Amino acid sequence: MGSGVLSRPFPRVDGELRCGEYSVVELADRFGTPVFIYDAQAVRRRYRELRDAFAEVDPLIAYSVKANGNLKLLHLLREEGAGADIVSLGELSRCVRAGIAADRIVFAGVGKTTVEMAAALEAGIYAFNVESAGELHLLNDVAQEMGVEAPFALRVNPDIEARTPHEYTRTGHARTKFGIPADEVLELYRWALEQPGLRARGIDVHIGSQILDPGPYERALGRVLDLARRAQDAGSELEFVDLGGGYGVSYDEEEEMSASRLAEQIVPLVRASGLRLVLEPGRYIVGEAGMLVTRVQFVKASGEKTFVITDGGMTELLRPSHYQGYHRIEPVRSRPESPMLQVDVVGPICEAGDFLARDRELALPLRGDLLGVRTAGAYGFTMSSNYNGRTRAAEVVVDAEAVTLARRRESLEDLVRGEWRPGDDPLERAAE
Ligand code: LLP
Repeated sequence: MGSGVLSRPFPRVDGELRCGEYSVVELADRFGTPVFIYDAQAVRRRYRELRDAFAEVDPLIAYSVKANGNLKLLHLLREEGAGADIVSLGELSRCVRAGIAADRIVFAGVGKTTVEMAAALEAGIYAFNVESAGELHLLNDVAQEMGVEAPFALRVNPDIEARTPHEYTRTGHARTKFGIPADEVLELYRWALEQPGLRARGIDVHIGSQILDPGPYERALGRVLDLARRAQDAGSELEFVDLGGGYGVSYDEEEEMSASRLAEQIVPLVRASGLRLVLEPGRYIVGEAGMLVTRVQFVKASGEKTFVITDGGMTELLRPSHYQGYHRIEPVRSRPESPMLQVDVVGPICEAGDFLARDRELALPLRGDLLGVRTAGAYGFTMSSNYNGRTRAAEVVVDAEAVTLARRRESLEDLVRGEWRPGDDPLERAAE
């Protein structure tokens, strides 16, 4: 499978990057920079690729909101039939606003609070993916107090180390905070059978992010299905298995995860189990569909280095700095006359670790040129910050000829919202 070069979003036509019916230059001029531009058609295409690859088992595709929670994109995915994988009340609230049905939402995370549990129970979510014995006990208490049963799955830590580009994105091995050790899982399902506030509904595993090979998924699934069978034998009525997310995309030369190869390995096991399949893709759906467009402020030679200083940096896209993540960077308008040079593309933030690329071959841009940072649709805006007093970037969704300002650039007023101001009562939060 794979989206193929021809259907790649942001194609270059006559030397200029485009999105849908628009030139990226035109969009950047209209909405300012730095700006995230998302191609709605590309998002739909990716969702459908996954849905079609797994069609035989008709999975619940619970889009992982942490990758990109923009309401316009959530709404679009809801129209495609997606559910959601959430990790906080904030993400739940986004999903509700976007109209995603609560019974298509799963809730993961190692530190859920009583407030979050109560709100998710109130909303009627499909399942809590529970990550510890302590959490299961608390969930039981909260549900009992509300006079309801909490549907849950235990997230198993299968102790499988999947290859990912950075250790921070490996979650399936025994040294991470995630999931419950496999040898404690059956005891907890057994305990839950006796609890009035709990109803076991499924079993869950998530082994990491940006994984390119189906192998670790097959191994992890084998392990959890074995546990599921034993839990069922002991009386738990499980209805689903959640395989988590993490299906990798292509940032550089690597080949992305093939949805059809993944399905080939996973579907037979799921069918044999009789369980409903839940998938939690984030990056796979929105990664490639997004571009961060940033404008060159200065080009500066210093020591042995050439720095291309842009108006976007680690506050917009943290991945290069935080995970040594690689993102392709291209001039939005080709510069065939410029010499190719090895440069660092850096932002304006006062940190030596503020860079979008290091030692990168680039046609030397001039002040005012636009650069397109590819595959920035996932973990771009959602990880962005106000550090250095920066207003977060605008987000624009292009759907063929339709353009939506999906989030306006933050204002200076946004930066101080909720903060004490001279003249305010010292104990009262500043009025909105
Ligand atoms: N399900 C669970 C339980 C997760 O923890 C995650 C991601 C996903 C699904 C979705 O993973 P995806 O399909 O998007 O890879 N900020 C990092 C990635 C952190 C992933 C956290 N969990 C990055 O930029 O690479």
